[in-house]
Amino acid sequence: MSLSFQLRHAAPASLASLATSLDTPLLAVILPQDVSLDDVALSGALGPLDALVHGALGRSLTRRDFRGGRDETLLLVGGEAGVQRILLVGRGSAPLSRTAARRAAAIAARQATKLGTGALALWIPDDTTTDGAAIEGLVIGAAAGSWSYPDLQTPPPEKDRRARVSAITVLAAEGAISQQAFDAGVAIAEGQAIAKRLGQMPGNVCTPDTFAEVGREIAERHGMQLTVWGRQQLAEANMGSFLSVAQGTSQDPKLVALEYRGGPAGQQPVVLIGKGLCFDTGGISIKPAPEMEWMKFDMSGAGGVMGAMETIGRLKLPVNVVGIVGSTTNMPSGEAVKPGDVVRASNGKTIEIINTDAEGRLVLADLLVFAKRFDPAIAIDAATLTGAIVIGLGHNAVGVFGGDQSATDEVLAAGQAAGEPGWPMPLWDEYKEQIKSDVADLKNTGGRAAGSITAALFLQEFVDGYPWVHLDVAGTAYSQTDLGWIPKGPTGTPVGTFVEIVRARARR
Ligand code: BES
Ligand code: MN
Ligand code: ZN
Repeated sequence: MSLSFQLRHAAPASLASLATSLDTPLLAVILPQDVSLDDVALSGALGPLDALVHGALGRSLTRRDFRGGRDETLLLVGGEAGVQRILLVGRGSAPLSRTAARRAAAIAARQATKLGTGALALWIPDDTTTDGAAIEGLVIGAAAGSWSYPDLQTPPPEKDRRARVSAITVLAAEGAISQQAFDAGVAIAEGQAIAKRLGQMPGNVCTPDTFAEVGREIAERHGMQLTVWGRQQLAEANMGSFLSVAQGTSQDPKLVALEYRGGPAGQQPVVLIGKGLCFDTGGISIKPAPEMEWMKFDMSGAGGVMGAMETIGRLKLPVNVVGIVGSTTNMPSGEAVKPGDVVRASNGKTIEIINTDAEGRLVLADLLVFAKRFDPAIAIDAATLTGAIVIGLGHNAVGVFGGDQSATDEVLAAGQAAGEPGWPMPLWDEYKEQIKSDVADLKNTGGRAAGSITAALFLQEFVDGYPWVHLDVAGTAYSQTDLGWIPKGPTGTPVGTFVEIVRARARR
């Protein structure tokens, strides 16, 4: 990643003089709702900043040009050296939190990108969070707002170019907590950048081999054990369900597993599993053409696993974690699997394929069987599994399906903490009627009704005795609109949730 991060710290009373002495093209100052110059918590900060811009800050507040509402910004132009611009960013009236800081920092970084300042410093003068949550949020948000995938575009001529943000500086009160929060923020930002990059890559650039390569890089960087299986090994392991999806493509499918042993020997691992469809045409049950290009995002669960493994490796969390992805491309062809075909998964169960577009669950089925060999303490899969979850929950909540209540609660809490909130969905046996087959043990679709639930119940058939939670991220992994704080494109979900699950276990 071409972003550098720097933490500048000072005693709380000296932060204002540190801020005003910075040499930076842009200092973003994040302020609360209805901020005023005589605000007690801010008095020591606003005065010196105001002096830098010859009273423009004070006048802007007095005139109520800037009121500190969420996402509100005001740019104050300073001198030629030192702090050359001040960007006021509102965070609204909610108490300062990790997610509020993340959002404000992302807004600041997007402004910096538009201006082309190249560097960005951030400061929350009234940060009273004692656990460093706001610092972590600043780093993650600034990285999110600076993110882009420029690889496939010709840059404009030099004179029209604006520098991308390449350096992020965060101001914080000195101490171990700030340092730890900053380091954690950087690790999470780097993991999310991996997931986003994979999510934005078109299907001809991000292939199953890409997952093998990215997996190898992460394994080498952090000393993880790597397993990469292709068609041959998948066949030897009797993964007929996964292989049926890969039947229509000449690309070699890949199962990639990363074993991170940060915990005590013998500790049962957290197992993270991701759906990695580099492109989903639907196969013989082909999807309609409009917006089909979006289906390059169908590897977001797998991208999330890769990103989380990078973060976990960087943070050296004292927990054993295994990341598993199953990657292929769902294509129609003369060889492709057809509706009505019956295939056998690696646990021996037979599946009647009703719709070749319900392919994610076929890949995950064999991954869930494979996960058993690691004796998981908990296994969480993430998948862009169903269009139905987009209808049910839209773009603001991850669908959370779990048989085991305490595991489900754990995952919901992690999602909440990560700012990737989930919502529990029923996984009741009654719905299983819908996936009974006349010719096989199961069929791969259960009709339109409760489509996300029958998909999850299908997965459950391949879970053998370990606590398991399924995340349907079809509505949350990729935004087709600009969300203001996050640009259009991959969101980084579910990296934050995965990391938070492991971090919370590290604290136990
Ligand atoms: N990758 C899709 C899920 C999807 C669809 C995500 C639309 C986002 C938007 C998945 O493989 C799929 O095609 N699911 C089908 C299942 C159906 C055939 C039972 C769906 O949701 O339409
Ligand atoms: Mn599909
Ligand atoms: Zn799919």
